[in-house]
Amino acid sequence: MTTDTPAQIEALLAENRTYPPAKAFTEQANINDPKVYAEADADYLAFWEKAAENIDWFQRWDRVLDWDCPWAKWYVNAQLNASYNCLDRHLAKNGNKRALIWEGEPGDTRTLTYADMAREVQRFANGLKSIGVQKGDRVAIYMGMVPELPIAMLACARLGAPHSVVFGGFSPDSLADRINDAQAKVLITQDGSWRRGSIVPLKQNADAAVANTPSIEKVVVYQRVGEKANIQWNADRDIWWHDLVAGQSDQCPAEPVDSEHMLYILYTSGTTGKPKGIVHTTGGYMVGTNITSKWVFDLKDTDLYWCTADIGWVTGHSYVVYGPMSNGVTQLMYEGAPDTPDKDRFWDLIEKHGVTILYTAPTSIRQFMKWGTEYPEKHDLSSLRLLGTVGEPINPEAWVWYNEVIGHGKSPIVDTWWQTETGAIMITPLPGVTTTVPGSATVPFPGVFAQIVDDQGNAVPTGKASGYLTLTRPWPSMFRTIFNDPDRYVQTYWSKFPGKYFTGDGAKQLENGYYAIIGRVDDVLNVAGHRIGTWEVESALVDSGDVAEAAVVGLDDVIKGQSIAAFVTLKPGVEADEQERTKLKQHVVKKIGAIARPEQIIFTADLPKTRSAKIMRRLLRDIAQGRVLGDTTTLADPAVVNELKQKYESMGATE
Ligand code: WT7
Repeated sequence: MTTDTPAQIEALLAENRTYPPAKAFTEQANINDPKVYAEADADYLAFWEKAAENIDWFQRWDRVLDWDCPWAKWYVNAQLNASYNCLDRHLAKNGNKRALIWEGEPGDTRTLTYADMAREVQRFANGLKSIGVQKGDRVAIYMGMVPELPIAMLACARLGAPHSVVFGGFSPDSLADRINDAQAKVLITQDGSWRRGSIVPLKQNADAAVANTPSIEKVVVYQRVGEKANIQWNADRDIWWHDLVAGQSDQCPAEPVDSEHMLYILYTSGTTGKPKGIVHTTGGYMVGTNITSKWVFDLKDTDLYWCTADIGWVTGHSYVVYGPMSNGVTQLMYEGAPDTPDKDRFWDLIEKHGVTILYTAPTSIRQFMKWGTEYPEKHDLSSLRLLGTVGEPINPEAWVWYNEVIGHGKSPIVDTWWQTETGAIMITPLPGVTTTVPGSATVPFPGVFAQIVDDQGNAVPTGKASGYLTLTRPWPSMFRTIFNDPDRYVQTYWSKFPGKYFTGDGAKQLENGYYAIIGRVDDVLNVAGHRIGTWEVESALVDSGDVAEAAVVGLDDVIKGQSIAAFVTLKPGVEADEQERTKLKQHVVKKIGAIARPEQIIFTADLPKTRSAKIMRRLLRDIAQGRVLGDTTTLADPAVVNELKQKYESMGATE
């Protein structure tokens, strides 16, 4: 197989710095005995049964697992409620404990205790009921980072109504596609959200989306910005959040749901076709997110935890909402950008509140490195005791910088590998046990089983070649299907290597058994930790009307990990100029959202294809990256490549 970033793996193989856990950390750690691994290996169902004791159930399970590959049922016939586990069960002892310390971008703040959250969730759940939301109905949520976002999610969970959160950076078209696929009945949004001092027009986008979503009956609007948002109002359809909850009782009993009841749908990009609705159910997901939060982040009653991810992505679902809140931890939530009002906003917040655990993305760390150490150095970061990363491979330089500049060499780093599909962290250090190596996510979490295989599905020996990363046994927080598309679930994930879950990632095991994740081996890009399918960007380009054919590839990017390059063949008569380039970029932003904006657009009369008409993406990547061309003998028309290469070179490396 081929991989995009062999240089990174080479760096890792040469990496000889190791960081054993400090004695002082290990002594206080939730998990400090490596025997947890051996125990889980010996009987993984017993391990996951024990883990389930950390969740409150209304009815216990008959069996831990029913597995008819690839169909799983965990904690069979048990009943529980996710909202109850995140709120009610903490109230007797910790009702007055802070659940959320929220910081708005403009500088306003709010603090909500667990009792406050429980009250608001119940009032809002009653509000949702009053507009007809029932168990099983899908509710779409399109919001910014305000406390009402987790409140809305937990209110849905309370009623057994699966939520589908759509990241606030997505376009109206992307929102409409997701609403239509899920057939959501209600949309929850807000007037606007603050980002770098500007208003993200969420309500305006929602209006545009809902014009094409017949299933939506009501739009609930949380007022965050006020007058300045300057929104339109449809009195038959729109209802203010504050009007919906006015007069509602703060008692709304949590609906007991089956362990396999759908908790949520979250859309993620794939190789072909529209984004896939990843379905997570309740019991296994709660067990998985709960125990990984507690063990990987070493959560203590006294911690102040901050996961900087937007809740619109799975990291926010699992490690802002369900994992941390089911552990009753106090957390910080921040609305805006890391450089507003200045590039030290994160460090300022950490100092101000005494954050102890920070979970963020490699792309952010590389951005902070670029901005310079003077920003973190202006602040007292001594409260930090543990650091985490997620979303993409972290290069050893960024890892070491994070360790030294942010962690002052005293905070273990957990590099956590997982996916929207896995629901919870799968490969990670346990901070009180694992000796870490910069750039490696180390080993599977206890009770999780990984294997690197070759094209034929045979295990690749440790320390040898790279291969495909698979998971060989089911795990509780695994996704159960793709919403309304079970065939695609089987096809995409379970058919390449029968009996094994195919992650879509390439990986290599180091001599010591640690995993080094290389990145996607399919046509999925990882731009600033966000998954974007090449197909989606290509169809957005073709949708412009000016494009006959497009091929999108990922380029190495020092900050974002990857950036997007598009090779475009224009329709006859369309001028290949700078204006057209701008127009196409804007069209992609309009169709998908700013995260999918191509960095480069390269016009070409033809695209290099194999004799079976498959676009040669690797070749395009090599061209766009200015690398030496490899073997082109399988090209239908080798002249095309040379033309492309010349064109690219005449444009200069960065366009
Ligand atoms: C893909 C999943 C999991 C939440 C955020 C992304 C890449 C994720 C790591 C890591 C190397 C990583 C993989 C994976 N990835 N974490 N620690 N090291 N790569 O969720 O959008 O579902 O993307 O992100 O390529 O397949 P996602």
